[in-house]
Amino acid sequence: MRPQPDFIHEFVPGSSSRTLLLLHGTGGNERDLIPLGRELDPDAALLSPRGKVLENGMPRFFRRLAEGVFDLEDLQHRANELADFVSAAAQHYRFASDNLVAVGYSNGANIAAAMLLLRPEILPVAVLFRAMVPLHPDKLPDLSSVSVWIGAGDQDPIVPVSETEGLAELLRDAGANVTIRFAKGGHGLTNEDLEGARHWLVEP
Ligand code: MLT
Repeated sequence: MRPQPDFIHEFVPGSSSRTLLLLHGTGGNERDLIPLGRELDPDAALLSPRGKVLENGMPRFFRRLAEGVFDLEDLQHRANELADFVSAAAQHYRFASDNLVAVGYSNGANIAAAMLLLRPEILPVAVLFRAMVPLHPDKLPDLSSVSVWIGAGDQDPIVPVSETEGLAELLRDAGANVTIRFAKGGHGLTNEDLEGARHWLVEP
């Protein structure tokens, strides 16, 4: 039996009890972030689903109406579906859901942030590269046992600095322990991002 609900995904077993949930950006797929996951933690298991929404043939995790303008109904539905998949996959592959780290890039970081806000029991730790405020929940969740590292670009044309700071503020208001690092650069990942996230994962 496959996990239900299912996503097309890769699962790579690890040699430690940690699992990284890898969430790709627009136009990516389940194989995209496997090398990044290995670089961030050579010992962790890797779970990497493919987003189910297609935008001009490009996979994403939820629909958007324009760049940075999200279809909030679809986002809520997709965040819940992904959260249910992660729980089902934890049982199926027998990984510890209390040692799960979401690692998302761009659209993948945005759905991870939406999961933190809508399904706070799923992700104890998250690394969000180039993330935005995905939505404002009706009621703030209790994220007091959650740690989040946000990697932003100081010249990102898609995610302005104010947007990164808005996300950090929202997560902190919910009680999360948030670290932000601004790398020199735009929307693409840099070595500075990888180094920052890798160090934080070793010593949060
Ligand atoms: C999104 O749609 O999640 C953001 O605009 C980032 C992107 O995927 O380009």
